[in-house]
Amino acid sequence: MAAANVEKYKSDGTVAGGLLEWVDARFPLMSLWNDHLAKYYAPKNFNFWYFFGSLALMVLVIQIVTGIFLVMHYKPDASLNSSGVPVAFASVEYIMRDVPWGWLIRYMHSTGASAFFIVVYMHMFRGMLYGSYRKPRELVWIFGVMIFLALMGEAFMGYLLPWGQMSYWGAQVILSLFSAIPLIGNDLATFIRGDFVISDATLNRMFSFHVIAVPLVLVGLVAAHIMALHEVGSNNPDGVEIKKKKGPDGIPLDGIPFHPYYTVKDIVGIVVFLMAFSIIVFFMPEGGGYFLEFNNFLPADPLVTPPHIAPVWYFTPYYSILRANTVNFFWIDAKLWGVIFMGLGVMVFFFLPWLDRSPVKSIRYRGPLYKGALAIFVVSFFILGYLGMLAPTPGRTFVSQICTILYFAFFLLMPIYSSLDKCKAEPERVTG
Ligand code: HEM
Repeated sequence: MAAANVEKYKSDGTVAGGLLEWVDARFPLMSLWNDHLAKYYAPKNFNFWYFFGSLALMVLVIQIVTGIFLVMHYKPDASLNSSGVPVAFASVEYIMRDVPWGWLIRYMHSTGASAFFIVVYMHMFRGMLYGSYRKPRELVWIFGVMIFLALMGEAFMGYLLPWGQMSYWGAQVILSLFSAIPLIGNDLATFIRGDFVISDATLNRMFSFHVIAVPLVLVGLVAAHIMALHEVGSNNPDGVEIKKKKGPDGIPLDGIPFHPYYTVKDIVGIVVFLMAFSIIVFFMPEGGGYFLEFNNFLPADPLVTPPHIAPVWYFTPYYSILRANTVNFFWIDAKLWGVIFMGLGVMVFFFLPWLDRSPVKSIRYRGPLYKGALAIFVVSFFILGYLGMLAPTPGRTFVSQICTILYFAFFLLMPIYSSLDKCKAEPERVTG
């Protein structure tokens, strides 16, 4: 669809029109506008689930803008100040108490991190509901999973920066996982930390990655994600390819221009989202200890381990999978199995386009097998997330083992149940 709109802008005689013509003769402004907005024909039946892509974009902007202002006052320094408090921790306190509006910027950024994961999890779930990862959107999905991985790294490193107790001990738990790798593990963990223990060197490199390296990668991946999507066109809640039915003008019969129809619709989503976001930022920024853990209001203390170390909520399903591995098996110890399964838990999403053998894309036309499997997967994911917040007991570990099996079974058995399923026939055109 790209490169179709090559006609150049002609001035209407006004100053603005003249300026636009001048720019458009030197830069593909109008063709970008047309290809991605005014003449990008999106299916007319987008529903609630289609709000989350634009919301993810908006949260990305919030994180970058608030991050820029935080960096103006934050100091990545683990040494102790004259009051015996780490400089990094004290600089966050300074932002909260003394920098004008600093509390707002910081709470927007910390709430933004959780909001990002809520939005991205909903966005991914939409893809699973409507088979948006299927041909021809495999690359859109692959870029998405890469974004998800980068986002996890970004959030982990950001959480280290306030240098509170959970920052320190959370990083201690996660970075020590690298030492489970045979032969090179210990050296690798030391290399990543930049020291034999979590220290100022660790804080500095995490800061560097959090503020520049990973955001650059994220922004690049998001651009690639949207370019890939606009190359093949959007899926929709019916999973019908709208490009198959075009009018005499070459425009899909079920397509409407993204701008103004979906720009306006997305603004409604953004306003509702910002209302909920503001309520959290202004009235419950810690989110009951889920968005900002209470232990992280204490400065990092290498000599005092908190009684219960749990990651922030968005990591807990994967943390549960890590802890569910309790058996040494095949010369590999339980800790390493945990690391392997936790990694596979994310990586397995890459293969979804090829695991799904259903003749239809959308959940609307799938049979009971896929619907049941997806429901079991979602319930297992929530249970894993819940258990990951709690201290382990034998009973909880057993439940998390069952849920880990169900989590992986959803993917690994998909080629079987998706091809056996009794699907309904997909309609020719979208249904309203
Ligand atoms: C920073 C994070 C992300 C941003 C800003 C983003 C942005 C977008 C936007 C603007 C769209 C088009 C609007 C829409 O369909 O909702 C989209 C579509 C899509 N995204 Fe993302 N996305 C992100 C992460 C992800 C992730 C993590 C995945 C999957 C693992 C993913 C998978 C998809 C798919 C499959 C589509 C096409 C959906 C369809 O046409 O039905 N995205 N994304």
